[in-house]
Amino acid sequence: MKQHETLPLVPVARGEGPWLYDFDGRRYLDAISSWWVNLFGHCNPRINAALADQLTRLEHVILAGFTHEPAVELAERLSALTGGALGHCFYASDGASAVEIALKMSFHCWRNSGRPAKTGFVSLAGSYHGETLGALSVTDVALFRDTYAPLLMRSTQVPSPDARTAGAGESARDLALRCARALEAHLAAHHATTAAIIVEPLVQCASGMAMYDPEYLRQARALADRFEVHLIADEIAVGCGRTGTFLACEQAGITPDFLCLSKGITGGYLPLSVVLTRDAVYRAFYDNELSRGFLHSHSYTGNALACRAALATLDIFREDRVLEANRARAARLTELAAPLRAHPRVQNFRHTGMIWAFEVADDAPQFARRFYRAALERELLLRPLGSTVYFMPPYIIGEAEMQLLVERTLEALDASATAAP
Ligand SMILES: Cc1ncc(COP(=O)(O)O)c(C=O)c1O
Repeated sequence: MKQHETLPLVPVARGEGPWLYDFDGRRYLDAISSWWVNLFGHCNPRINAALADQLTRLEHVILAGFTHEPAVELAERLSALTGGALGHCFYASDGASAVEIALKMSFHCWRNSGRPAKTGFVSLAGSYHGETLGALSVTDVALFRDTYAPLLMRSTQVPSPDARTAGAGESARDLALRCARALEAHLAAHHATTAAIIVEPLVQCASGMAMYDPEYLRQARALADRFEVHLIADEIAVGCGRTGTFLACEQAGITPDFLCLSKGITGGYLPLSVVLTRDAVYRAFYDNELSRGFLHSHSYTGNALACRAALATLDIFREDRVLEANRARAARLTELAAPLRAHPRVQNFRHTGMIWAFEVADDAPQFARRFYRAALERELLLRPLGSTVYFMPPYIIGEAEMQLLVERTLEALDASATAAP
């Protein structure tokens, strides 16, 4: 809050498409999809219409003992997107609550299966899974984690296959195999006390858009099977088409035991999250004895408006062939970004699906803050993660906006090198 003395909050009056407008008529291109949630622009007419219709039917109802059409239809459509492999859906509200559910459900499933010693969790170095205590326990970002360390449960971090860390002559796939061997060594020693490994498939977003080879996911799947631990895919940031396929796991041809979705699932309209899991996990809880059941609830679980926004979002994916259109859009933005890639201060320019990222060589303090300000002054909403600048635009970004994004980013780069903090 103190920093806002010199960098005031931006009050937003309205949004339209990829643009946000303040009360003075200034506009900002939402090049980070408002923390990676917005897929089809602000005030999307089709999602608005679905919500307006839902408002005349049902806004919310307790999801214990009762159910409603959007929750049932959404569960069925999401399950179908996994080819039916994940046949059960557990609803919650935000991303972190989905992670809490996946962790608790994994542990409880093993306990119900007569293996109560499986209490440990493994995550990747640099992983981010949310800010609640369970999710923070498997998060490895010191800034968010260190203060609360005494409150957190035990977890282990194994090396990340982050392609930027590949050795000389080592491909991203070689690195993935090397990191998988480290996971193997850990599981060989600790599988009896490990419930699950949790990963952000293909891109570790919050720790700086670390991108990695799908081979790691294939290896993790095989190791999870071999050592009898669950594989949790946290696709909260990378799901819903962000990496180029609807689910990032598709690129590795694997199905996790738990799949967490949130953020883009409602097109960025309302908080909703969901954990999908297998029939076998469901069966482990199916019992007359109450304590064997999964007693976890949130008041707004499976909110009808949020589920309806999610259904409208899935409709847009289907009707507009979004994944296909995004391939062309991504190729064009990558082409336009050539001057950025060639900029003398830009390093590790990389791209997966609808995510672009690069590091900026900058010795001056507070680069992120200076760049954020310089971008805002040029109609761009961009929030670097440390020295990493990234684009995660909504899937409706057009040619003119892509050109503006690249041109103004170049200007902001040069301006932030000299601007006062
Ligand atoms: C991979 C991942 N998991 C979990 C979360 C937490 O989601 P939420 O902020 O909705 O709690 C995030 C948020 O950025 C995320 O990127």
